[in-house]
Amino acid sequence: MGVKITETALRDGHQSLFATRMTTDEVLSVLPELDKAGYHAIEVWGGATFDACLRFLNEDPWERLRKAKAICKNTKLQMLFRGQNILGYRHYADDVVEKFVEKSIKNGIDIIRVFDALNDIRNLKTAVVATKKYGGECQIALSYTTSPVHTVEYYVNLAKEVEALGADSICIKDMAGVLLPTTAYELVKGIKANTKLPVELHSHCTGGLIEMTYLKAIEAGVDIIDTALSPLSGGTSQPCTESFNYALRGTEYDPKLDENLLNQAANKLAKVKARALESGLLNPKVLSCNPEILKYQVPGGMLSNLISQLKQQGASDRLEEVLKEVPNVRKDMGYPPLVTPLSQMVGTQAVLNVLSGERYKMVPKEITDYCLGKYGKAPAEINEEIRRKIIGDQPVITHRPADDLAPEFAELKKKYKGVAKSDEDVLSIALFGDVALKFINQRNEDAIPTVLTVEA
Ligand code: CO
Repeated sequence: MGVKITETALRDGHQSLFATRMTTDEVLSVLPELDKAGYHAIEVWGGATFDACLRFLNEDPWERLRKAKAICKNTKLQMLFRGQNILGYRHYADDVVEKFVEKSIKNGIDIIRVFDALNDIRNLKTAVVATKKYGGECQIALSYTTSPVHTVEYYVNLAKEVEALGADSICIKDMAGVLLPTTAYELVKGIKANTKLPVELHSHCTGGLIEMTYLKAIEAGVDIIDTALSPLSGGTSQPCTESFNYALRGTEYDPKLDENLLNQAANKLAKVKARALESGLLNPKVLSCNPEILKYQVPGGMLSNLISQLKQQGASDRLEEVLKEVPNVRKDMGYPPLVTPLSQMVGTQAVLNVLSGERYKMVPKEITDYCLGKYGKAPAEINEEIRRKIIGDQPVITHRPADDLAPEFAELKKKYKGVAKSDEDVLSIALFGDVALKFINQRNEDAIPTVLTVEA
């Protein structure tokens, strides 16, 4: 059997290239072709897609999902889920996590890809159990990074743990695009030899080496690869779907996607991309590779955040210093992988360390919470001297952070009884607060007919 392909253009593609601004109509326009093209899955939903719908597009993310499901009768729809953070940035109580999983599946998601930024599997458990309970397919993603503790052996052991936790498949999630071809080969071989689960590879072209990495992973027996249709591929996004389909044709790895359907969908997406370029939403800079990220191991999205943070402070000339400080902060913090929300937290701390002139003189609340154990267990020991400088003599928790959280859903439902029209609305409010409320209030107002016609 050939390599299977998950199409990412409609989630990570526009997220990586133009701030997740594809509209629901644009997403839906290509689904009839993609549904019949022979993909393993189409990724359509995640934290940024949900957030951008409410915040910038004035669209209901749940509505997008239902409409996508109505079109896709042949191919599974996939979402990305941040473990106990759901689609947000903090830990939520178990009942909210479970309700979100339930509603995601009921509204059309088939595969939930769950990850935790720290690879603390205690933060995955509720989402995994709920996915199985509501009949979804559960993929657990291992957040890939490099550090003295993040060896092939570390990831193989983690893969065994997530298999025991109940995963249906495993994804190697290389959000920064720093997985080297030879390491990918060893990693896939190691996981395949030690678990019975299908293995998927997710990476980004940011550093300019990922097509090579994918090929080595394929040779090592990877089951599924994540690629994006040509207009939304390359640069900070995934490798190109059509190219992999072409390169592997006639080999034992042949993905057997329908070339004509891919072309039809790509032609539509090319117009979406042209509009994003024209409006300035898509900066041509992100379309070429940037091997610098390999040196600093910084994901593309984090790099652009750092650049804009420094620009706002009038300190654009300090970028090099900040990039050098990022690995130091990571080391102090026990080598967290740089994925949401840790990428933003470590990036902000590095900026503060450089701009304030004294390391850890200024510390954001999130880093303090992290040092208190409120995000889970760091992959390696946090530097104790620095931890104490940040938290003083406050106690550090060693249990699962969500164990301290009382159920939230019923309370929220009661509180927003007049505004929320469904449990889905309550969940939107739970995750995105005022942003969701603003959208829902507006939608409710628009729904009231202004002219009443009376039939004679
Ligand atoms: Co990604």
